[in-house]
Amino acid sequence: MMTTIIDIKSVDAEPSAAPGASASTDWDWLVQDCRVHGSLYTSADIFRREMSHVFAATWVYLLHESEIPEAGDFRQVWMGTREFIATRDDNGQVTVFANRCSHRGATVCRAHRGNGSGFTCPYHGWKYDNHGQLFGIPGKTAYGPEFKQRALHLARPAQVASYQGFVFATLNPEAPPLEEHLAGARRFLDEWIAHQGGADNIVVAGAQRFHLECNWKMVYDNAGDGYHVPFSHQSLLMMTNERYGGGDMSYFADADRSHMHLYSLGNGHTVIDQRPDMFLNSAWEQQRPQPGRENFEAHVQATTAPEQVKATLESAVGAGMNLNIFPNLLLIGNQIQVIQPIAADKTAMHWYATRRRDADAELNTIRMRTQEDFPVMGEMDDATNFEECHRGIANSPEDPWIDISRHLETGKDVQNDAGLTVGPVTSELHMRAYYAQWKQLMKASPALVVDKSKVTA
Ligand code: FES
Ligand SMILES: [Fe+2]
Repeated sequence: MMTTIIDIKSVDAEPSAAPGASASTDWDWLVQDCRVHGSLYTSADIFRREMSHVFAATWVYLLHESEIPEAGDFRQVWMGTREFIATRDDNGQVTVFANRCSHRGATVCRAHRGNGSGFTCPYHGWKYDNHGQLFGIPGKTAYGPEFKQRALHLARPAQVASYQGFVFATLNPEAPPLEEHLAGARRFLDEWIAHQGGADNIVVAGAQRFHLECNWKMVYDNAGDGYHVPFSHQSLLMMTNERYGGGDMSYFADADRSHMHLYSLGNGHTVIDQRPDMFLNSAWEQQRPQPGRENFEAHVQATTAPEQVKATLESAVGAGMNLNIFPNLLLIGNQIQVIQPIAADKTAMHWYATRRRDADAELNTIRMRTQEDFPVMGEMDDATNFEECHRGIANSPEDPWIDISRHLETGKDVQNDAGLTVGPVTSELHMRAYYAQWKQLMKASPALVVDKSKVTA
């Protein structure tokens, strides 16, 4: 029997990373090409630093514009643990400001979403309009002339930008323009949007939400993991196989020999492109069965020109990619999945379903059945792994390293003509690529800026 002896003394000699201990900040030691340190997942100190160096200093996805379509609509949004409110004004403009009263810091909005002309802080009644501008203070005569000089509007992030309806923000005024930050992900995002019939056609239609006992990076790790599918989702694949003779995701069984690839898109963004296999023949035929499938197919046959039938059926399936926009936006199937870090060991996941504005009720219904399918039957497999990885790492500080070297030494991760690194679909290129970005962000210390001045039109 082979025995691996872990030299506890050598672990102790390395910078401390035990849960609860002050973690090392030697980023080059913590993040290596072939491995990363477990404290990146368990340390409260590292989590606190991430909330500023990652979730404030780079672009973070907030919401899709279709979630606040009408004047006066608002929704709570998050940049890591920072809470903001996004509103739509009478001119159709989206404004984002902190959900933090300028008086004594209370959250001014306690509802997740709604519609109104402004916000009244429940504590002492300060009133803000839907740009976050202070306009009413009860008992105002108690304040003197100096008070009026202060900037007391709600704090707006240094930069907010929308790309085709996807709204992002950062507190870093020096962050490059959003389109530049999206880098190689932009092309795939455009293709995802095209699958939905165009930017104006996308409507976010509610969410499934999960609370997980794990670090947020467990979710991002898995988002570009083409290795786990036949093992983690074995029961789902077996069920599909035994009942229906194969189907969606069966091409992951021997993924490195498939037509799929994993791309590193720059700035920590990656994609698993399933389309070469999923759309090889008919993606509709490969779908797992959904309730109402036969009726939908009959409806399409009866109402659609024969040459359009296949395209209409294919528009009911997912977009065939796992597009990961670092650090918190994952496009999977037709869904917009958002990672919300809460603590080093607590994460919320939001799976926003989408519908198409141009589609009839039948198409949107079958799209919804497809979108319910994976989160309900497959996500539980993943969520269990996230929590079990976290437990395994947190409970073994004497054995802290996590291996991310798959395909590091096979020479199969190569540059393509577009300058992107492309690897086999089970390559841990995804983790190596995003951790390189993560390390760069953790080392940098840009100024973080909010604006509390009056909104200029
Ligand atoms: S904390 Fe908001 S009005 Fe006092
Ligand atoms: Fe999975």
